[in-house]
Amino acid sequence: MEIRFEKADHLKEKPTGTLGFGKYYTDYMFVADWDAGQGWHDARITPYAPIMMDPATMVLHYAQETFEGLKAYKTDDGRVLMFRPEMNARRFINSNKRLSMATLPEEDFVQACESLVRVEKDWIPTGDGESLYIRPYMFATEKAVGVHPSRSYKFIIICSPVGAYYPEGVSPVKIYIEDEYTRATVGGTGFTKCGGNYAGSLKAQEKAEELGYTQVLWLDGVHRQYVEEVGSMNVMFKIDGKIITAPAGETVLPGVTRDSMIQLLKSWGYEVIEKHLDVNELMEAGKNGKLEEAWGTGTAAVISPIGELYYKGEKVTINGFKTGELTHKLYDTLTGIQWGRLEDKFHWTVEVK
Ligand code: COI
Repeated sequence: MEIRFEKADHLKEKPTGTLGFGKYYTDYMFVADWDAGQGWHDARITPYAPIMMDPATMVLHYAQETFEGLKAYKTDDGRVLMFRPEMNARRFINSNKRLSMATLPEEDFVQACESLVRVEKDWIPTGDGESLYIRPYMFATEKAVGVHPSRSYKFIIICSPVGAYYPEGVSPVKIYIEDEYTRATVGGTGFTKCGGNYAGSLKAQEKAEELGYTQVLWLDGVHRQYVEEVGSMNVMFKIDGKIITAPAGETVLPGVTRDSMIQLLKSWGYEVIEKHLDVNELMEAGKNGKLEEAWGTGTAAVISPIGELYYKGEKVTINGFKTGELTHKLYDTLTGIQWGRLEDKFHWTVEVK
């Protein structure tokens, strides 16, 4: 893919102090357009700026929008690494196919991310746990109010220097198990990363926050009984020495961090069971002490220990609300590989030169 570069007149001041998550954006963005006649064209890295849209633009009405999230890391010796970008590229293709959108070839997705990161490498923060969050997304741009797949799309990548996703940092979070609203059903879009999935989740998130919980744990959409995922991460439980997580089927997002942690855990000799865990079994394990640890996995969330679960008025505390030993080991190993401090035995990182 040929990428044109448009130089900015002014560069922004870089933020100082605590970054938080998604508060600052870099100087440039990547943009490419697609239409049925030309396919992908006019790929460019251009100064970060607002997008002008016609009020009839289809994404505003029918929500054909998908996105991804990955990060670039600066190593102690100044190299720039990305973590498994090809996995995001493949998931993006699957999301776009499900939403009847244009698809972007895997190598073009990776090239676009790498090219933008190369331009923005001075924006990669180097504080503890800090990285450059990369947000590729695509949306329908045809002007039409009739319902049909759009005949044109825009693909954009923006970057944001970030720290921890949760205000708790890497301390345990409290999770609210939602028993009324649901996120996904078989045959739907649960396995995709589309904006609509997140819009539908906000109501429950509000409920959770009102009760003092950080995130929602979703149950399946048919029985409201089997554990699926948390709003911004996949979730894993250590029960009686074994690791249990929901299968990444039609209703659960196939997380890149999830997949990586399963590979790590198996390489350490753990039995990892991908199954539909009954929420009553989970709460019971919490009460009788068999639920030893719980954690979320995600690009934004990294490895996030879970210290408390709330379900239908009942609470269980996990590991005395302290980060468990295995959760710690997963966090240290994953971040060690991502920041180039540990050997990358799985060949997950890609250096941006
Ligand atoms: C990510 O982990 O990258 C996500 O996209 C989750 C979230 C910020 C919506």
